[in-house]
Amino acid sequence: MSVIGVIGGSGFYEFPELSNQKKISIETPYGKVESITQGRFNNVDVCFIPRHGGEHNVPPHKVNYRANIDAFSRIGVERVIAFNATGGIGEQFGPGRFVIPDQVIDYTYGREHTFYDGKNESLAHIEFATPFNEKLRAVLKQAATESDIGFQFGGTYGCTQGPRLETSAEIKKLQKDGCDLVGMTLMPEAALARERDLAYASLSLIVNWCSGLSDEVISLDKIMAQLESSIPKIREVILKTISPC
Ligand code: HPA
Repeated sequence: MSVIGVIGGSGFYEFPELSNQKKISIETPYGKVESITQGRFNNVDVCFIPRHGGEHNVPPHKVNYRANIDAFSRIGVERVIAFNATGGIGEQFGPGRFVIPDQVIDYTYGREHTFYDGKNESLAHIEFATPFNEKLRAVLKQAATESDIGFQFGGTYGCTQGPRLETSAEIKKLQKDGCDLVGMTLMPEAALARERDLAYASLSLIVNWCSGLSDEVISLDKIMAQLESSIPKIREVILKTISPC
């Protein structure tokens, strides 16, 4: 039976609801992945990786996305649910709102963004018109509905480089580009998952209005407070997606 992979983001570093937990590490050609938690829920094997490390000390541009996805692939993961904390742009995309995005625009640079780097594997051009797995998005939608959270089904995620937040002018540009929410971690993760043929979908949470869209200064304290209050719901939604097929 296939394993479900869960990728934790800011504020989501452990998964106590999993039974029979054990910590493992996996060597990949792209580096070693430490702090993988293996466990079970609802008769399904689950692997959990906190992408910023257990101590939140890996910034978005330094996450070893290739190693994380390759490690998942090596241990039999077929479906990946990723959690992403984001800022909101669109009117319906205010703090506290969850989003199951359907599109992404990649503004990152200098990240190891493909397995087809001319060294390890022969070239392929993955199809990426629809970057998320629609079946998994539908499962997330069902779980979000049952969990009674306020959410948007669909939205364009603009992935910026970070770790700094954007300027107000950058946010205006992203708005014109059609972005509804902005984060730093969805890419290249989603594309690498597709390259490894893993079904991938994101549960994003808006933790602030993006730069220039509100009078309030964006502060890490407020972001962390928003995350902390939403963590039980994040776990609840993800747990509801974990079923045998
Ligand atoms: N911009 C980019 N990434 C983020 C933001 C933001 O405003 N908030 C949380 N992650």
